[in-house]
Amino acid sequence: MATLRLTHTYRFSASHRLHAPELSDEENQRLYGRCNNPHGHGHNYVVAVTVEGAVDPATGMVVPPGALDELLQRQVVSVYDHKYLNFDVPEYAGITATTENMAVAIQERLRAAWPAGFPALVHLRVQETKRNSIELSVIEEVV
Ligand code: NI
Repeated sequence: MATLRLTHTYRFSASHRLHAPELSDEENQRLYGRCNNPHGHGHNYVVAVTVEGAVDPATGMVVPPGALDELLQRQVVSVYDHKYLNFDVPEYAGITATTENMAVAIQERLRAAWPAGFPALVHLRVQETKRNSIELSVIEEVV
């Protein structure tokens, strides 16, 4: 049976400040440059989520219409949109909100709520700017 990959994209706007608490102020300034400015700055993020599975003969689709959108809205967009990530989103209380850490955190949020019977989550892309994006391939752990 054919296996297909489906990608949906989602958008949210959020602000952050890149600042590693274990480094000194000078080291943070050197490492992150203007992204370390004290009062933060914003981005229009685009998250692309790719799932892989067979076509459901009953619907002719890989995933039920709207189901993936509902999951992303609940687990990611409603939590991240128009927030200052460092203070408003719990996972960034202890880690810096780099695009890398965001890709991992978004993956964890999705996997924690992934519905039974859903096609597999195989890939995530978090785009922060036109020039900067992170791709994450989801490798299922063998239990
Ligand atoms: Ni930034």
